[in-house]
Amino acid sequence: MTRVALITGGAQGLGLATAYRFGEDGFHVVVADIGEDRAHAAVDQLAARGFTATAARIDVTDDTSVNACFELIDKKTGGLDVLVNNAGIISRSNAEDIDSAQWERELSVHLGGTMRCSRAAYPRLLNSATPCIVNLASVGSTFGLPHRLAYTTAKAGIVGMTRTLAAEWGKQGIRVNAVAPGYMDTGMMQSGITGGTLDRDRLLMRTPLMRFGHPEEVASVISFLASADASFVTGVLLKVDGGITIDGTFHADNTYKSRDRSEVN
Ligand SMILES: NC(=O)c1ccc[n+]([C@@H]2O[C@H](COP(=O)([O-])OP(=O)(O)OC[C@H]3O[C@@H](n4cnc5c(N)ncnc54)[C@H](O)[C@@H]3O)[C@@H](O)[C@H]2O)c1
Repeated sequence: MTRVALITGGAQGLGLATAYRFGEDGFHVVVADIGEDRAHAAVDQLAARGFTATAARIDVTDDTSVNACFELIDKKTGGLDVLVNNAGIISRSNAEDIDSAQWERELSVHLGGTMRCSRAAYPRLLNSATPCIVNLASVGSTFGLPHRLAYTTAKAGIVGMTRTLAAEWGKQGIRVNAVAPGYMDTGMMQSGITGGTLDRDRLLMRTPLMRFGHPEEVASVISFLASADASFVTGVLLKVDGGITIDGTFHADNTYKSRDRSEVN
């Protein structure tokens, strides 16, 4: 039987790359997005590649919209095996100037959306033989990112939510994990570079693999977490960040080399 995967915010970026990957993995993909036209365009692209997919409108901040989306999935597919909580937004401002409405919106998309969709998915996942949820965390789950207070607060919260759902729903066989992408070559990151919040060269210098990631590299890890190969993996935060969050280089490379030589001599 064809497994069904729902990807929120699936109309573009990492979500769309994940939709393609799940298509390749043989899933029926539900692309749900607040941008309904983009969701339909994404489904047309998936269909052109021979994948079966359904487009849906969802506003993950709204209970009614979330419930309507899941009812559509019931009608169109009859079940759900994988939920990818990917919908996201980001705003940048000084912490002291943060706008309350923007703060609430951002927390409501990331944290509220992940909670609402997981809650709605739960009774459907109980009927799946291989139920799992993958949440999108971020380097902001590890780093304090200046000027992105709501985003980092939300992404740190996603890690706690992932662990709690994994602990609570494990006995029902539902695995819940998170991926934490680093700096990806996507619109979200480009907006940071263009807007001056991110410094391209410093980012690359701090990344051991010395490059930005590709959306497909996040999609493949989400695919792994949703696969039988990860059947005993739950509650983890899997970083897909080229090593940026483990890098402890605080000296120039040549400093180390010259000292290393003098110690040998
Ligand atoms: N791009 C990166 O470098 C990066 C790094 C770390 C984490 N992430 C996370 O990965 C996820 C996807 O990021 P992306 O770069 O592909 O972003 P993106 O902006 O390209 O796509 C996000 C999608 O979410 C949708 N969306 C926004 N609000 C929504 C709502 N209320 N309801 C339903 N859909 C909504 C948007 O319409 C859009 O299609 C986000 O959770 C983001 O925080 C991205």
